[in-house]
Amino acid sequence: MGDLESEKHVKYIVSIEKKKDSFEALVMEHLRLNGAYWGLTTLDLLHKISAVDPEEVIPWVMKCYDEDCGGFGGNIGHDPHLLYTLSAVQILALFGRIEVLDVEKVSGYVAGLQNEDGSFAGDMWGEIDTRFSYCAICCLSILKRLDKINVGKAVDFIVSCKNLDGGFGSIPGGESHAGQIFCCVGALAIAGSLHHVDRDLLGWWLCERQCKDGGLNGRPEKLADVCYSWWVLSSLIMIDRVHWIDKNKLTNFILNCQDKENGGISDRPDNAVDVFHTYFGVAGLSLMEYPGLKTIDPAYALPVDVVNRIFFGK
Ligand code: FPP
Ligand code: ZN
Repeated sequence: MGDLESEKHVKYIVSIEKKKDSFEALVMEHLRLNGAYWGLTTLDLLHKISAVDPEEVIPWVMKCYDEDCGGFGGNIGHDPHLLYTLSAVQILALFGRIEVLDVEKVSGYVAGLQNEDGSFAGDMWGEIDTRFSYCAICCLSILKRLDKINVGKAVDFIVSCKNLDGGFGSIPGGESHAGQIFCCVGALAIAGSLHHVDRDLLGWWLCERQCKDGGLNGRPEKLADVCYSWWVLSSLIMIDRVHWIDKNKLTNFILNCQDKENGGISDRPDNAVDVFHTYFGVAGLSLMEYPGLKTIDPAYALPVDVVNRIFFGK
């Protein structure tokens, strides 16, 4: 097990950027703006955002912007979607450069995706999912434009996705899933509406996600996976029930998923590493106050100092 191999993880993330011609880069191409957010946030949590040049990153992010509609695509020339628009806004927030945006235009794009029942479509094709409610609310909050949507209806829709087990699904009646629970609890936290959550009932469901190996799974009967360290722990923190899981066992599970030679973290021990699980592993450790890491905000999924700079200018 041992310690967090911070330096190796920094090298791994920086090397991904340089591998643009590899097969891995090709198949992940549509996820590039999300991937950049995962990698850059990991570097910042490790106090190494300085390993990348903002003058390279920001112009590339802005090339993914669709001026006509105000949204961002996953890569240059790709169709805009809320998932990528949030990543773009988060990346700009990391560098303290929100001002490069036409905030009215971007927030207009996000607000335009709200439906009459308060739900959000992910893009012009209309798929509805509580993931998109989270993306919209988080994005507009960072842009300080929550007044552009009907927040009450957005909250009502999320509440309509609450299940009898205390969890939340992607649409009304959808099965409880830890990823969707993060989205719903995070959106409710940002909207100041956590009173809709039954903290004990949901806290119980979430702490039951800890498996014998110490890792967390996303639903009953599933294997533990490092990314659920984030989805489950962040939700537990927001509802003030994080003391219901065994932090030592979870820390050991995450550290066991490191590639100790070449850096990076995988979903479970001995699997291949990727930037998604590297981010969620480091973010999970940050939520558990692992020494030497910046603290991450459980609702905004950004380092706390970045969130403070957005809202308090410090
Ligand atoms: C599990 O996905 C995760 C989710 C359903 C939540 C996704 C949340 C967002 C995209 C919002 C933005 C997130 C952040 C951190 C800013 P999966 O497809 O891996 O689920 P599976 O394990 O069931 O396959
Ligand atoms: Zn995973």
